[in-house]
Amino acid sequence: MYHPQQPVFSTSFLWGSASAAYQIEGAWDQDGKGPSVWDVYTKQPGTTYKDTNGDTAVDHYNRMEEDVRLMAEMGLKAYRFSIAWTRIFPEGRGEPNEAGLAFYDRLIDTLLASNIEPIVTVYHWDLPQALMDEYGGWESRSIIDDFHNYCVTLFKRYGDRVKYWVTLNEQNIFIGLGYRSGIHPPGVKDEKRMFQANHIANLANAKAIASFRELVPNGQVGPSFALSPVYPYTSHPEDVLAAENAEEMMNHWYMDVYAWGRYPETIFEHLQRQGKAPEIEEGDMALLRLGRPDFMGINYYQTTTVERNPLDGISEGKMNTTGKKGTSSDSGVPGLFKTIRNPNLDTTNWDWEIDPTGLRIGMRRIHSRYGLPILISENGLGEFDKLEDGEIHDDYRIDYLAAHLREIGSALQDGVDVIGYCTWSFTDLLSWLNGYQKRYGFVYIDRDENDARSLERIKKKSFFWYQQTIQQHGANLWKGRVNSQ
Ligand code: BG6
Repeated sequence: MYHPQQPVFSTSFLWGSASAAYQIEGAWDQDGKGPSVWDVYTKQPGTTYKDTNGDTAVDHYNRMEEDVRLMAEMGLKAYRFSIAWTRIFPEGRGEPNEAGLAFYDRLIDTLLASNIEPIVTVYHWDLPQALMDEYGGWESRSIIDDFHNYCVTLFKRYGDRVKYWVTLNEQNIFIGLGYRSGIHPPGVKDEKRMFQANHIANLANAKAIASFRELVPNGQVGPSFALSPVYPYTSHPEDVLAAENAEEMMNHWYMDVYAWGRYPETIFEHLQRQGKAPEIEEGDMALLRLGRPDFMGINYYQTTTVERNPLDGISEGKMNTTGKKGTSSDSGVPGLFKTIRNPNLDTTNWDWEIDPTGLRIGMRRIHSRYGLPILISENGLGEFDKLEDGEIHDDYRIDYLAAHLREIGSALQDGVDVIGYCTWSFTDLLSWLNGYQKRYGFVYIDRDENDARSLERIKKKSFFWYQQTIQQHGANLWKGRVNSQ
């Protein structure tokens, strides 16, 4: 769909940026914080790139005021950050740790004083290790009440000042990488366990949202889902069917539950035949229906292109965590689909396909299927950045972000309701498996894989570009272009 006019972003559009506690805070045992599964997992040799961890990260915990000053200087309208569960409950439950609660009070108040809307992510993967040790974390129904208690504590404490809330960040990723490919904690490779843990996470999410309605009646809540819209590799009907399979299994499997409280039937029945379907207990489906969000938060980085995959076809693939282009390999689900490189798209050095139009396609699909507003809760480019004479000329990042923003503009013209856009990320940070060399920020941090160096903050060229974009409500995105394309 082509539009003759340039799109207009509303004055209330949330021009934002995002982060996550483990990736920026550091201070891993400061002020009473307990260990999370990531604190423990990253200490096992060979689990992350060059054995990097978040012990110091970019020391945001001790430099919060400086970081928010930079956000204010940029003119940011919204900042999405996550709360570390083990700062609030070092053992996952019990007596809350006042020092942890007070840190986020200060962060929220500093943001509000700078006219920046806080968007709080309740859970960005840093599960309390104590709950993993006690009952296996997401594999036990005990977590439903512990997660609920943690959420209620946050809703009561911050609900008077925070309007936008994200419950689970990328449930599909932390469950998939934690229980299918085994490269995130707890390092399990077992699909039956994966689908069960995922069901329990759905129940925990729904129960938290049900209480949110009472405790933060004027707030808005939703998940942040890692969206990868699926394309068929060819127009051969079997490849188109493979794409349907993948769209159902990778996307609808999660979003149908968020929006409607039910699993897509074709995939559920397929899993039942394989003995891998989640065990549904009485009352589960009624609880899931209470979890309908106010918006669909989506984290978008790339699309997935697939083709048919026979019953004895490929399954496990390899991820590129080094930045050496071409070192990842395809993966699949035998009998359903397998991935294949899209010849129409370029990739980053980490083999992520760059596809701004895919974001618009994904938003259109969500809009049509669920009728929910959309918050782009993450989008960004992880690349090597070079500090040259004290400057970082990251024009490639500007091009990437501008292209995605133009597609959001077009989606607005298509009729999609988009609340805001958070880039990933504000400062450089720890990329879970990829160390510190895969940089995403507007602000460069002087540190490398194992040396925290000065941790000095240096504004990149993209910092000034986003500042201008916000000031001009996006008008600069189309400068020098003949029409809205
Ligand atoms: C999302 C996560 O998966 O993508 C972030 O929510 C993450 O925490 C980001 O950092 C980029 O992924 P990666 O693997 O490049 O750090």
